[in-house]
Amino acid sequence: MRELASKRITGYVNWRRNRRKALFGDVLESLLDDIFARGPDHLAITGDLVNLATDNEVDVATAWLEAVGDSLSTSVVPGNHDAYVPGAYDKVAVAWRDYMTSDDARRIRPDNGLFPYLRVRKNVAIIGISTATATPPFVASGYFGIPQARRTVELLQEAKQAGLFRVIMIHHPPVRRAAIWHKRMIGIGRFGRVLREAGAELVIHGHTHLNTIHWLQSPAGLVPVVGIASASQGPGGKKPTAAYNFFTIDGKADDWSCRLQRFQLPEDGTKTPVEVSDDDLTKPETVPPGHIPPELGQDDPEGSPLSIGKAFGEDGDEREPADYAAREEPDKRR
Ligand SMILES: [Fe+2]
Repeated sequence: MRELASKRITGYVNWRRNRRKALFGDVLESLLDDIFARGPDHLAITGDLVNLATDNEVDVATAWLEAVGDSLSTSVVPGNHDAYVPGAYDKVAVAWRDYMTSDDARRIRPDNGLFPYLRVRKNVAIIGISTATATPPFVASGYFGIPQARRTVELLQEAKQAGLFRVIMIHHPPVRRAAIWHKRMIGIGRFGRVLREAGAELVIHGHTHLNTIHWLQSPAGLVPVVGIASASQGPGGKKPTAAYNFFTIDGKADDWSCRLQRFQLPEDGTKTPVEVSDDDLTKPETVPPGHIPPELGQDDPEGSPLSIGKAFGEDGDEREPADYAAREEPDKRR
């Protein structure tokens, strides 16, 4: 980039913008314009870049990703749609590899497993988890298994020792009842134990297409778990219009500040997102409770808004289908 004269940079920016717009349309592009106008250091994309994961879709999503940003400033974790059919996951693991891999190539396992990855940007550690797995028709569940949990604990502890702010990226919400049963993540209890053992400063997820904040327990207190609307949802749909979370992270180890501003496209079709909330995530008591739609059940009536209720419980519903277990055989032999 440095050799490019400013006129060429403008041309380059316009090219990227036009290309992105041509690939995924107005809504997403309006959101991205607004995001980049704020000058973020990093863009975190929490999955479901494609729908049916056809070759063509993966190619288009890859071209879009490359037009959005380079892999140094953009991180991705895959969603269930990115592994929609057997073989799709292998395809995206190759196509988007640079965006979802550890800084240190030695962390990539001999079986080519990329997850969890660890990327460090300034004083922030980004730990990317994959819950993507091909599922039967009409099922959109995810899976967080034992080997990945074990390595996530290691990475979280390592990042803590390095004095970093630890952000976990995961597609499925690791919170009970945040998604209906056939869309839930298997391994929610396991994820909770990972946090209780190693801690983290922030968890961000996708999948629900809802603007939510839940809280999970860690040794240092409550950890915010933040969801977001789809980035491409136009007005008039069942789910909230497109939105993005903008985090401002500052401070130092054991004394972090983390501000969450949420920007959303208005329902009236206006193309400029407006700020709809501004919360200090280091002060849970000031943050409004997370919203769970009525059809998914209510927040725990006995708990305070900060309680995550049954998310602390044991894994009552976490029977693991044989095919999930089989996927992790290589790790079990270690
Ligand atoms: Fe999803």
